[in-house]
Amino acid sequence: MFKTIEWTGDSVRMIDQTLLPSEEIYRTYHDFREVAEAIRSMVIRGAPAIGVAAAMGVALGVKKSSAETVPDLRRDFETIADVISKTRPTAVNLFWAVKRMRETFENVLAGSGSEAEKIAQARARLEEEAQRILAEDIAINEAMGRHGAALLQDGAMVLTHCNAGALATGGYGTALGVIRAAVADGKKIAVFADETRPFLQGARLTAWELAKDNIPVTVITDNMAGHFMQQSKIQAVIVGADRIASNGDVANKIGTYSVAVLAHENQIPFYVAAPLSTLDMDISSGDEIPIEERSPQEVTHWCGIPTAPENVEARHPAFDVTPHRYVTAIITERGVAREPYTENLKALFG
Ligand code: MRU
Repeated sequence: MFKTIEWTGDSVRMIDQTLLPSEEIYRTYHDFREVAEAIRSMVIRGAPAIGVAAAMGVALGVKKSSAETVPDLRRDFETIADVISKTRPTAVNLFWAVKRMRETFENVLAGSGSEAEKIAQARARLEEEAQRILAEDIAINEAMGRHGAALLQDGAMVLTHCNAGALATGGYGTALGVIRAAVADGKKIAVFADETRPFLQGARLTAWELAKDNIPVTVITDNMAGHFMQQSKIQAVIVGADRIASNGDVANKIGTYSVAVLAHENQIPFYVAAPLSTLDMDISSGDEIPIEERSPQEVTHWCGIPTAPENVEARHPAFDVTPHRYVTAIITERGVAREPYTENLKALFG
């Protein structure tokens, strides 16, 4: 099995998701700015994986910092956190991970010991914390799988959008983790993978990792989903999320909203699988979720080849918001939440 991301001791190694499925190449980064660039350019992507990469980027930056005093190290920490926080705005896991690393850092500095001891301890604790975030993420996905598997019937054809699999997380996946758990329970599950224009996470990544696991997968273009739903070929939809507001509104890959509306129209359950680190309890609705606008070049070109007339205007909002009324249930590591989400998510969140 491939490793989406790992800490090597003095660098961060990740599979280059821009090259899949044609090439399985691993990149090794020795500098936090390279990790930030890998997040921005989508060498690594998917909300939980972005969170892990952000944490490892912070640990790497602090480890490589030449600071010899606490104020200098704190100044370097702020620079590192700032550079990493400015990579992608929608996946809240990124900010969650940076906050967790900051808390670890501040706890060490508030503790006892000489300045040199605190600096050494901060480096070691941040390294440990980043690895803990990775290990926890995999365990959380497995727990989500256990909670969500019961929602998928034996023999179901499940539609997914984008990639919410092992590649989008520390491993196992959120939406694909639920599918993997249902398959492990002995259910026969097949998957329709939406191609997911314009970055093709469905065709390139979801199809690649499901095929590796021998889970039957059929790639369809995004505009075919309605047709197959109308023909009763799809029994459930399951997707991941980049940020969930406290009222249950879900930001996920552009096109998810259309899939949710189609599922509603065709009375097909629409499930979202996401860890609690994707829940943003500070915002009351999806209106407050920042939507990343990526380069129009990603819409007008593929692999540098134009697919639209030169200089034509194009837009590329990378995410959309699905109102909670279209969400049948949200699967988390602590259980499954349904309407009313404001109360039920709060109860799960603790
Ligand atoms: O732009 P991406 O590829 O980072 O977008 C990823 C998604 O939208 C995923 O569905 C989401 O992050 C959940 S991943 C478990």
